[in-house]
Amino acid sequence: MKRRLFVTTALPYANGSFHIGHIMEYIQADIWVRFQRMRGHEVHFVCADDAHGAPIMLKAESEGVTPEALVDRIAAERPRYLNGFHIAFDNWHSTHSDENTELSQDIYLKLRDAGLIDTKTIEQFYDPVKGMFLPDRYIKGQCPVCGARDQYGDACEVCGAVYAPTELVEPYSALSGARPQLRESEHFFFRLSAKRCVEFLRGWALDGKLQPEVANKAREWLEGEQGLGDWDISRDAPYFGIPIPDAPGKYFYVWLDAPIGYLASLKNHFDKGQAAKLTAQSFEQFVADPAVEQYHFIGKDIIYFHTLFWPAMLHFAGRKAPTNVFVHGFITVSGEKMSKSRGTGISPLRYLEIGMNPEWLRYYIAAKLNAKVEDVDFNPDDFVARVNADLVGKYVNIASRASSFLARLFDGALVDVSALPAWQAFETERFGAEIAQCIEGRELGRALRLAMEYADRINQHFDSCKPWELAKDESRHEALQQVCSVSIAGFHALTVWLKPVLPALAARAEVFLGAGELAWDDFMRAPTRVGRYEHLMTRVDPKLLDALFEPAPAAPPAQPVPGSAARTGAKPRGDSGPTRPAASGVLSIDDFAKVELRVARIVAAQAVEGSDKLLRLTLDCGEDTPRTVFAGIKSAYSPESLVGRHTVMVANLAPRKMKFGVSQGMVLAAGFDDPAQGEGLFLLEPDEGAASGMRVR
Ligand code: MSP
Ligand code: ZN
Repeated sequence: MKRRLFVTTALPYANGSFHIGHIMEYIQADIWVRFQRMRGHEVHFVCADDAHGAPIMLKAESEGVTPEALVDRIAAERPRYLNGFHIAFDNWHSTHSDENTELSQDIYLKLRDAGLIDTKTIEQFYDPVKGMFLPDRYIKGQCPVCGARDQYGDACEVCGAVYAPTELVEPYSALSGARPQLRESEHFFFRLSAKRCVEFLRGWALDGKLQPEVANKAREWLEGEQGLGDWDISRDAPYFGIPIPDAPGKYFYVWLDAPIGYLASLKNHFDKGQAAKLTAQSFEQFVADPAVEQYHFIGKDIIYFHTLFWPAMLHFAGRKAPTNVFVHGFITVSGEKMSKSRGTGISPLRYLEIGMNPEWLRYYIAAKLNAKVEDVDFNPDDFVARVNADLVGKYVNIASRASSFLARLFDGALVDVSALPAWQAFETERFGAEIAQCIEGRELGRALRLAMEYADRINQHFDSCKPWELAKDESRHEALQQVCSVSIAGFHALTVWLKPVLPALAARAEVFLGAGELAWDDFMRAPTRVGRYEHLMTRVDPKLLDALFEPAPAAPPAQPVPGSAARTGAKPRGDSGPTRPAASGVLSIDDFAKVELRVARIVAAQAVEGSDKLLRLTLDCGEDTPRTVFAGIKSAYSPESLVGRHTVMVANLAPRKMKFGVSQGMVLAAGFDDPAQGEGLFLLEPDEGAASGMRVR
């Protein structure tokens, strides 16, 4: 039966770039979604930026931009990561959108009509300098228990005590330093403590569908002594959020409109006409349809919002509650929690930029995932070993070995394998069924272990038949063709099973197998002929992992002052600096200052014998002895034309030993990478008056 699925991942906060934790969540969900699509099910897989809230508003303010501009800038980065890691959302939207405003206000009004919204006057800290109420994390002071200074408003990092911000001794605003004042304000509450809410949530959360660890948490919350408290859903202006109807100056707390963003993105997807390929229903018909299954992939830190607030909001607004939430643990790197401020973790962008194959990461993460709420560790040595042993050693290897005989001796043709005992011994059908069951249940690691066990069977059979010996004896060529055919048939089945994890590799394998677009049920349909084998995947070079963990260049300060670092020799900013994750490809002003550029006079220039590219330049850059630099500019300049001219050189480049001698620097020249854009090479020359040895910056 064809299933109809609405799938999301958590909506990432729009005040920062993706980190490896986001990518892990997307990879997990994307694999599951691709699997469902291959099974022929209807899937709508969406996400969006979570744009609202005080942190985004304040960050934008500190950068001197509007929150909208900040969110747009982050949104513009998203496709590079998503495309880079083959994450195939059907739509990406924003919670700062018309759809979300409409849906959030509508859901709120329904809850109000249902008698589930209350107002209460509460006392809260107010920053008289900033003119705003302070969220707990922006209030600091002395711990009321141990007296430690500069502790946050909710808990002490020194003694672990938990308290209300009003209990802090000598509180101050982390934004302005001012002493906050207690002020009264009217807040709106969702009456989660109402008997009907608690009853509904018990039914929804404790019916056995949640993962056991998740259900335990929900049980604690629902049946613990404290019981469910009402939920404060309003914030006072100034706030970057959605206005509450009939309540001037009041906005929805970001966590109210954030999950509604799931619906907003789906609606946007429908409104764009993209869903019409799969369904004739309207957005409202689709989300109300009892046959539609709705799943949210989320991390363990946001279970509360997704198992209590979100189902209750939907249900009491007269909508359908989610079918389930799928919770994963956190990714650690070599056993350490990732921390943006300490620069640990892996930069997904750097991973791509240094040329690492995104499918290695997809495979590695999948191999470590299961249906439990367990943390996943990225360990570099383990990564290299796993990917090389499994993907290259076991899987790809089958195709390269078997196809070479088939191409050489049988014109690529396979025999029918269905009746061959060797093929039957592989138990392909049983493996296929078990692997499907594992992926469905998000036991991705187990699915891949089964696939590799199957690959072992193929490789063992191949080796035990010694095809290289069969090839030498023409009377045994029939046996050889059979061995190779079963191996390729097995490779074909493996390709189907691995396709959700390795979509790009599978696309190349499909060409090799002459298979067209493989669906899940195709795994028993072995091909009759293979094309030319093209290299499918390279081994991971462990050096790449070193490059991945090299400290990436720090992000530039929010508003760099050109030249300041170079002039004052200022040290790179420490902990107090902005904590934007270091994007490789972006150079900090401090890093740029490391490049020592100087004006040099070309004292002599000669052609280099035996080289059609190089000139040997003798450069005076203000030092006692001139330097020798080899420059690849012979095509553009005759040696005589250069003598006496000034140019710009990199003076602190490590000396490089070349065939013709040691080069002690580099001169700078302009040119296009692609000759189609324009030819020629143009040496840089400073303006009149510049003298040898001057620093360029
Ligand atoms: N904006 C909220 C979610 C709103 S959903 C209606 C949020 N954003 S987040 O950017 O902080 O996190 C997005 C997702 O990434 C969450 O599911 C979170 O659990 C997950 N992860 C954040 N750090 C992670 C790891 N280190 N490892 C794996 N997932 C992690 O929460
Ligand atoms: Zn303390």
